[in-house]
Amino acid sequence: MHVGIIMDGNGRWAQQRGLIRTQGHLEGLKAAKRIVKAASDMGLQYLTLYAFSTENWKRAAEETGFIMGLVKQYLRGEMNFYRQNHIRIRHAGDAAGLPPDIAAEIATAAADTKEFSGMQVILALNYGGRDELVRAVRRLAGQGHDMAAVAEEDIAACMDNPDVPDPDLIVRSAGEYRMSNFLLWEGAYAELYVSAKFWPDWTGEDLAGAIDAYRNRSRRFGGIAANGG
Ligand code: IPE
Ligand code: IPE
Ligand code: MG
Repeated sequence: MHVGIIMDGNGRWAQQRGLIRTQGHLEGLKAAKRIVKAASDMGLQYLTLYAFSTENWKRAAEETGFIMGLVKQYLRGEMNFYRQNHIRIRHAGDAAGLPPDIAAEIATAAADTKEFSGMQVILALNYGGRDELVRAVRRLAGQGHDMAAVAEEDIAACMDNPDVPDPDLIVRSAGEYRMSNFLLWEGAYAELYVSAKFWPDWTGEDLAGAIDAYRNRSRRFGGIAANGG
């Protein structure tokens, strides 16, 4: 199973407590660590965490810089945990648009964990669904592909992590009912789950609740359910 999470509400969590937004991101990082651990313990195979969108650069440099610093700290600090739990780290998004030290940090974490066969954690950083599609099309064209004959499989094969199955469930914290440019191609038939809880308050129980809700859904993929409903 592949779960994607839009980790939203760090700013509101901080605001509610009279704290600055960066405090919210710091607590959000702690929540991300809790959720990765809970997901790994549950035996989840793929977890994509939306950490920073291609549109998040619209924010103040202090905030974007702080988030990038947290990502670096996270990747470095958790290496032992990944090793112990056989967690493989991957990146989705435009690495060329990241600060070079952050891009290098992710590349190192991905290389150091690429043989691990436990859960795969895909960090969506400087990620946009539209941007991923544009980069996929450019890759295809660069390969000399006959663009007039392009098929879904060709595009799918040029996405950032083509071997990762499509997300089954996309979860969003902090109550907003929108995709915000997350996994637009891959999420075509993902089940959606929105929780009002701000991301820094998330625990493994919230993730388990989302997965429970998913198990009660009837996925039809455009067809008709086995029971005819
Ligand atoms: C999610 O929290 C983290 C990122 C988008 C990087 P926000 O920072 O968007 O928090 P809100 O939506 O302002 O509460
Ligand atoms: C989506 O949250 C992006 C991430 C969680 C990284 P945003 O806070 O950027 O989304 P909008 O602006 O509310 O749509
Ligand atoms: Mg937000």
